[in-house]
Amino acid sequence: MISSSGSSFYLLCCLVVLLILPFSSLSSDPDSLQDFCVANLNSSISVNGFPCKPDAEVTSHDFFFNGLIKEGNTTNVFGSKVTTGNVLAFPGLNTLGISMNRVDFAPGGLNPPHSHPRATESGVVIEGKLLVGFISTNNVFYSKVLTAGQMFVIPKGLVHFQLNVGEGKAHAIAAFNSQLPGAEVVPLNLFASTPAIPNGVLTKAFQVEDDVINAIKSKFGS
Ligand code: GLV
Ligand code: MN
Repeated sequence: MISSSGSSFYLLCCLVVLLILPFSSLSSDPDSLQDFCVANLNSSISVNGFPCKPDAEVTSHDFFFNGLIKEGNTTNVFGSKVTTGNVLAFPGLNTLGISMNRVDFAPGGLNPPHSHPRATESGVVIEGKLLVGFISTNNVFYSKVLTAGQMFVIPKGLVHFQLNVGEGKAHAIAAFNSQLPGAEVVPLNLFASTPAIPNGVLTKAFQVEDDVINAIKSKFGS
């Protein structure tokens, strides 16, 4: 039997959970508790994010990043290259809940279907012509061909891609509401994971024979 003080405590706990829930589901990365917290990437302490460098060691250099200036090398099976400007490359972003990528495309290049488990993505085409698409959880495909200056948004966690449908090279800049959005790249997840997903799972999922799965796996060096 629950005593009356026990049941009031229980009610209080429920109330606190109900009050907190909407905030945690509306936010992306947690709000910071200080002006900045330049990541100490070498710390052995593991927390949600990185511990801060001591203020005395922080310089202007920590708040600027040149990593997206350079064109990425698109010589690979997909003909595209994502250059990340996340907290791992730009420690000044630590605890601030944002990051950016640059994506370069060779003619015909594809940034393959992928999703970001921790962020919504918003991007702008800087050069060229891209078919940008995503698939909703209702399995509806939304897409549009964009040219320089046009923007797109990919809701958090949804599978999306960009395909260069122009004559020449293309590139885009993407922004995220996470310092480390993460990326699940569907073809690599399915056909080049470590250890490999058993063929029996893939043959059943795609309704094909073993040789088809092995042929796809071989394209990714597995
Ligand atoms: C583009 O979709 C990116 O994730 O950089
Ligand atoms: Mn993306």
